[in-house]
Amino acid sequence: MKDKAALRAWRATLAPGQKLGFVPTMGALHAGHISLMEQARAAADVVIASIFVNPLQFGPNEDLSRYPRPIEADLAKLEAAGVDALFLPSVEDMYPPGASTFVEESMVSLPLCGAERPGHFRGVATVVLKLFNLVQPHLAVFGQKDAQQCAVIERMVRDLDVPVDIRRGAIVREADGLALSSRNVYLSPEDRAAAPLIYQSLRAVEAAYFDGEHDAGKLAALGLAVLARSERIVPQYWEVRDPESLGAIAKVGSRGALLAVAAHLGTTRLIDNLLLSPG
Ligand code: PAJ
Repeated sequence: MKDKAALRAWRATLAPGQKLGFVPTMGALHAGHISLMEQARAAADVVIASIFVNPLQFGPNEDLSRYPRPIEADLAKLEAAGVDALFLPSVEDMYPPGASTFVEESMVSLPLCGAERPGHFRGVATVVLKLFNLVQPHLAVFGQKDAQQCAVIERMVRDLDVPVDIRRGAIVREADGLALSSRNVYLSPEDRAAAPLIYQSLRAVEAAYFDGEHDAGKLAALGLAVLARSERIVPQYWEVRDPESLGAIAKVGSRGALLAVAAHLGTTRLIDNLLLSPG
C-alpha cells in the first residue's frame, strides 16, 4: 500500500476481533528488524510493517539523502517473514505542504541522542503518532537498540492516551557483538573491524559493575577507556543513566541503569546500549 487511502481501505477489511501488530521501520531491513516482525507475528493475528525514511527526524547535516533504500530486497525479506501488509507512503502523502503540528516529548528526549540531534525525537514522535493514527494497531514493536526512542514513544503513548500496546524487542547482534544497523553498510573495512569495541565497552562496564563498581562516573570512564583502544572511534557520549527517566545518576542503585554509547567511525554514527539489571 503506497498511500493513506489504500491503507485505510485495507484497515477497514479487518474484523474487529483481529489483533493487529505493527512494526514501523525506515527500510534497509536486517535481522534486527525481522526479529521485531517475528515478535509481532507471535503476539498478533495480522502483522503490518511500514517503510518510510522520515525526513522530519534527520538533521540538515545527516544522512537523509544517502540513507540506503534497497526496496526489492526489503520486500523479499518481509514476505519471507510472513508479514501480511506493508505501508510504503511517499513524503508528499505523509507531510502535506504547510504541515504545522508536531509531537514534542519534553523530558526523556532531551539527553543523549536528543542533545546531539536537535529535533530528532520530535520527528520520530510525530511520525510514529501519525503512523499509529493511520494503521490503528493494537500493539507495536520497537527495538531496544534505540532505547531512548522506546522511552520517548512509551511516554508519548502514556501522556497522550494513545491506545497502542508498546513492546520492546531485544538487540540483535553480529557474531562479534556489533549491533545490527542499517548504517553498518557505510563502514569502511577498517572501521567495521574496530566497531565491535563499542559492544566490548558495554560488556567491560557490565563486568566492572558485577565486580562491585557502582560509581556512574567511574563506570563511564572505563567504557570510554575501552573505546580509546581504537583511534578510529570518536565517542560522542558514554553514559550511565536511570533506566526509565534517562536522567543522570551518581551511583547505580536498586533501579539498575542504562549504559548508553554513541560514537562516530568515519562519517558513520553508531549507537548501542546495555541494561544493567538491579541487584
Ligand atoms: P529503523 O532505524 O529502521 O528501525 C526500525 C526498528 O528496528 C526500530 O524499532 C529499531 O529500534 C529496530 N532495530 C534496529 N536495529 C535493531 C537491532 N540490531 N536489533 C533489534 N531491533 C533493531 O527506528 C526507526 O527506524 C525510526 O526512528 C522509526 C521508529 C521507524 C520512525 O521513523
